This record gives sequence, structure tokens and C-alpha cells, in this order.
Amino acid sequence: KSFDEQFRPQYHFSPPQQWMNDPNGMVYLDGEYHLFYQHYPDSNVWGPMHWGHAVSKDLLHWEHLPIALYPDSLGYIFSGSAVIDHGNTTGLGENGKDPMVAIYTYHHDKDGQSQGIAFSNDKGRSWTKYSDNPVLKSPGIPDFRDPKVSWYDQGNGKGKWIMTLAVKDKISFYSSPNLIDWTHESDFNPEWAAYGGVWECPDLFPLEASNGEEKWVLLVSINPGGPNGGSATQYFTGNFDGQQFTTEGQKVKWIDYGADDYAGVTWSNIPKEDGRRLFIGWMSNWQYATIVPTTAWRSAMTLPRELELVSVEGDDRLASRPIRETKGLRSSSESIQGPTHQLKAPLFELELTKANHEKASLTLSNELGEKVVFKIDGDQLAFDRSSSGKTDFEAGFGNLHTAPLSGVDIKSLRVFADRSSLEFFINDGELVMTEIIFPNAPYLKLDFEGFNENAKVHYLASIWD
Ligand code: FRU
Repeated sequence: KSFDEQFRPQYHFSPPQQWMNDPNGMVYLDGEYHLFYQHYPDSNVWGPMHWGHAVSKDLLHWEHLPIALYPDSLGYIFSGSAVIDHGNTTGLGENGKDPMVAIYTYHHDKDGQSQGIAFSNDKGRSWTKYSDNPVLKSPGIPDFRDPKVSWYDQGNGKGKWIMTLAVKDKISFYSSPNLIDWTHESDFNPEWAAYGGVWECPDLFPLEASNGEEKWVLLVSINPGGPNGGSATQYFTGNFDGQQFTTEGQKVKWIDYGADDYAGVTWSNIPKEDGRRLFIGWMSNWQYATIVPTTAWRSAMTLPRELELVSVEGDDRLASRPIRETKGLRSSSESIQGPTHQLKAPLFELELTKANHEKASLTLSNELGEKVVFKIDGDQLAFDRSSSGKTDFEAGFGNLHTAPLSGVDIKSLRVFADRSSLEFFINDGELVMTEIIFPNAPYLKLDFEGFNENAKVHYLASIWD
């Protein structure tokens, strides 16, 4: 059986072999969700970057496709996005059809970072690089990367492409009529944002706020400088007027307080009838990504999530909910009589509701005495993986991770367990912690307190069966 190595995720995306980092170029077309990713096919550590490729009909079962983009004389192929060029603004579509266009960063040791494009006229199966790359040249600074492009609708049938780009410690916005000629519009770098590392992999999109108004969300990944060490993704809420992003906030907000959700961005071209804002992140952290104890492949993606704005104490917060398609993975369910429960199988989803106590905790353990503890204690969450199994590959891997509750009133906890990851969703995504783990035997024992006893477990099927 393939995809059955120790620690191999059973319902999270992972590359067939070798190294993977950021998700790239996510776009939907004709019933298929495309996922490209930073990939080095010759080794299980980072190297000259390619774009790996896979497609899915449900965001959970993936078909691996051949590598889409290879490095060339202009450089390695770093992170970026893909769009459907409606109206063929590039002129690169064949027979009047709209091409799929990838916009990515070229990384060149001597020439720095610039942006290039490539196009496909066969649903992403084959790619041609544009003959006049790069389309946005390096200004001679080292960090100028990760273009996320979307169509900005100006009304009356008019619009323009907007590129959101990470430029060292700021975000720069560019606009274009055709994905080829780009004009600088503005920069964003408020004084109070998190600057503990370099800014990477941004995303910009509108969402409906809980009062029905349209708000804009800007995601900015940062490495290092995350709330629990290493890499993490901060976000800003505010307005984008086609030229400039302005934020109303004054405090740093993180999309995920766990250590293992980085460089996440959203799908483009999701049909209007669906209307969801769908997100996926890289389920690792640069602090230890290259030395985690797997060899055949390295790293996986988070569960795909639906992003929504919720209001907490008058503040717009970005909630990440597991996509509803995950229900299709459920093979059987049972109710749990706490406080201790023996599970039947290691792939599961847990649903708990909080009892009326200040404190609550959930411990998952195995027959070797390895365990993780998730705690709700007063105004903070804590996750302890110090005795989770293999931890000594990196000095900080076992550190305690915490998250401030910041006004979130905890009602429920949903946990997704795969062979080497745990994802904790408070109130269906108002607060999230994504964490990787390397237990030497599956966690099959559950102990909890401070939660109601009407808990539930759903056993999940492997996507490879
Ligand atoms: C983020 C990142 C990006 C870059 C890519 C290179 O993890 O550093 O900024 O494009 O990885 O693989």
C-alpha cells in the first residue's frame, strides 16, 4: 500500500515524495481544485524550487500530477498564485478561451527576486512560461516576492488585476490591466504590526462582516516572529479601495496560534454559487521543517478551511472552520462516556462541548506513555507536546504553546487527529491551534475534564484506501 509510511498523513495533503513547503497557485476550474506547492523533487530538504501539482474534486482526495513549473535561467520558482484570466486580458488564451495564468517569484542568487508568469490552455496540465519574463523586475533588494493576484472589480464592467507582494517588512500593491504591465499603487506597513521576521506570502480578499458590511482581509505570513516561535501568519482587517489598504485595527491578530500553519493563502475563482473563501496552509514551521523525523517525504498541508469574519468584543476576527467536506470522511461515530475513553482507531475527529468551569483539559496518549495535553486555563489555551513522542530533533519543538482567549467565550472544541498532526478548533474555528506530532504509537486513549460528557468521536477514513 502506498502513502502508508510511519507518520504519513492519511487525510491531509502531502507530496508523493521529497520536500514540500508553501501551497501555491490555488485556483478552481471546471470541477477541479488545483493545488500547486513549493517542491524540491531531488531531496527531502529545501533546494531549487519547483511547483508541484495536484487536483481534487472535494479538497480532500488528491490526484498527484506531474511537476508544473521547473527552475530556469531566471531562477528558482518561488511562491505565487494562479488565476483564470477571464476575458483573456493577457492575450495568451488559445481560440478565444481564458487561460489559466500562474504568477510566481523568480529567485536568482545574483539577480535577486522578480515576478514571472506562465500560462496553461489545458486546465493546468501543461505550462508555457511567458517569453518576456520577468514581468516585474527586481528593484535590487533581496526580499521581493510571493505575488498573490486577484481581479479588482471597479463596477460598470471595469476592473484591474491587483498584485499583493511581500517586500521585506512591508506589503506592496501593484495593478495591471493584463498581468504583464504592472504599476506600483501603495505600500502597507503599520507601526504596530508584527515585524519579528521577514514578511512573506500575503493574500488580500473581501469578506462579509457579521453586520453584513464588506470588509477586506490582508494575510501576512512572518518568519520568524510567530506567537509560539518560528513562522506564523498575522492578519489585518480593514478596507481596500483599489489602490490602498487601510486597517482599523491596532493589535496583532494571528490566523492560527499553533506552531504549524504557515504561508497559507486562499483559492481563486471559486464559483459565486459556492461563495466560500477557502484556505490551506503549510502544516510545518521553518524552525524545524527540514529536520522533522520523516524521510520519504517532508511535510503536509493543513486541512482546507473556510474563512469567515466573526465579531468578538466589537472586533473583527478571522475564523477558520474545517471545510464541510470533512464530514464525508466520517466512517462511523460513537458517543464518549468520559472522563476516560479508549478509541478504536487513530484517525478521528472529536467533538466536545465545554462545561461551566474555568478550566478544562484534554489528554491524548498511547501505550508507550507518550501524550499531548490541550488545556483551557482562565484566559488562555495551552498545548503541550513535550512528551508527544519524537521531539528531540530540535531543541524548541517541545516548548509549551499558548494562545490568549482575547474575549472568546469557549463553547465547543473540535479536534482532528491524523497520524502526525492535531488541529484544535475552538467554537468551530474562532480560535485555532494546528500542531504536528511524531508519536511512536498511535494515541488511542482519551482523558478529559471540564467538558460535558455528551462528547462524540467520528472515525475518519484514509483518503488512500
Ligand atoms: C515561505 C517562503 C516564501 C518563498 C518560498 C521559497 O515559506 O520563504 O517567501 O517564496 O518559501 O520556497
